[in-house]
Amino acid sequence: MRLDKFVCKSTALTKVQAIAHIEAGDITVNGKVISDISTQVHENNHVMFAEEQLCPRPFRYLLMNKPAQTICSNIDEAYPSLFNYIDIERPQELHIVGRLDADTTGLVLITDDGRWSFNITSPNKLCPKVYRVHLRQSIDKSAKVLFAQGIKLQGESQLTAPALLTIVDDKQVLLTITEGKFHQVKRMFASIGNKVMGLHRESIGCVTLDVDEGQWRYLTVEEIKHLNP
Ligand code: URA
Repeated sequence: MRLDKFVCKSTALTKVQAIAHIEAGDITVNGKVISDISTQVHENNHVMFAEEQLCPRPFRYLLMNKPAQTICSNIDEAYPSLFNYIDIERPQELHIVGRLDADTTGLVLITDDGRWSFNITSPNKLCPKVYRVHLRQSIDKSAKVLFAQGIKLQGESQLTAPALLTIVDDKQVLLTITEGKFHQVKRMFASIGNKVMGLHRESIGCVTLDVDEGQWRYLTVEEIKHLNP
């Protein structure tokens, strides 16, 4: 981890304050003053500030049931940030693992562990995300084969990765995808001439939504490990 991040994660300092202390030569790593904020340090390095050894706080892992008309951003924009629903210390250290659109509801993962979130969002890791989709027009069962083969989205040269379509009723389906392209689910249905009227994420990997809308909880140790085997 970069030295400025290490200092922030071990103290109550803001990023600006941490940088100022590092650049002023107030931090030592293994007995030497280090004033380059981008120096990589590890948990077993001996980092000292104000005569105290710094020890980063453990990473945090949460799930939330996102309400509609909220945005997956740390700050309010056209709609309020979903962080308005999360009463937690230092929310600015957290980020959202894969964004949902403002009108999409359901499961959102939140963490301050960048490597963990990369392993969930990277298409190479094949982490399945299940969406419940309400459609404007009836779905034909031939769509199952099309989605399994991969769909050519408008403006993309590559097909989508194989997706699993389960038909619930004529206008409701479950779609499992392993990627997270921009507006992917809406664009997949648009490409077969249909329109998404409602979109709700039910699960990511082994983690299934089990809290009410607007509520959140910490993930269990098993869930954290399962999502990053
Ligand atoms: N696909 C979409 O189109 N929107 C989302 O919010 C998530 C996946």
